[in-house]
Amino acid sequence: MRPDSDCVILRAVRDLNCQNNLRGDRMLNEKVKELLNDQINKEFYSAYLYLDFANFYQENGLDGFANWYTVQAQEERDHAMLFIKYLQNNGEKVTLDAIAKPDKELGDKLEVLKLGLEHERYVTSLIHAIYDAAYTVRDFRTMQFLDWFVKEQGEEEKNADDLIKKMELFGDDAKSLYMLNSEMAARVYSAPSLVL
Ligand SMILES: [Fe+2]
Ligand SMILES: [Fe+2]
Repeated sequence: MRPDSDCVILRAVRDLNCQNNLRGDRMLNEKVKELLNDQINKEFYSAYLYLDFANFYQENGLDGFANWYTVQAQEERDHAMLFIKYLQNNGEKVTLDAIAKPDKELGDKLEVLKLGLEHERYVTSLIHAIYDAAYTVRDFRTMQFLDWFVKEQGEEEKNADDLIKKMELFGDDAKSLYMLNSEMAARVYSAPSLVL
């Protein structure tokens, strides 16, 4: 195939993708849809993982830490519901898959917090991968939807990092740890700012 005909075909595919995304009656690009659907499962897994963290801290007498992760788990369920709603708003079928068993080894109070940060960084990479797929097919609607999650992931990583810093500073001292636990007990759930 001649290079100029390659260009013509590529341009035609790009224009078609663009038109498809501008027309309200057209479903999402298959790859974008698949990644959005996968993210539902990832968010429910995050909720499951953080419930596991909450149970670990509860069993170790840190009920404030347990509260913090219980609230976190609720937020992750909210994220899953947002992905479901977005797919449904775009006329897509939602396919739920089995949620994996939380597989992290929970043995040390500080290490669990580090696992939390590691997990949030992984989720950030997933959100960016969906964004990248949407960007490739000029799916502006999905990009705009994902903007909220890009920002949210920045906050999630900062929150996880802050917890590690506080634990590193105060965790070895019983009185300080008690106060940190009390601070984390005060976290209350609030619904996500994104409404679909
Ligand atoms: Fe999330
Ligand atoms: Fe998260």
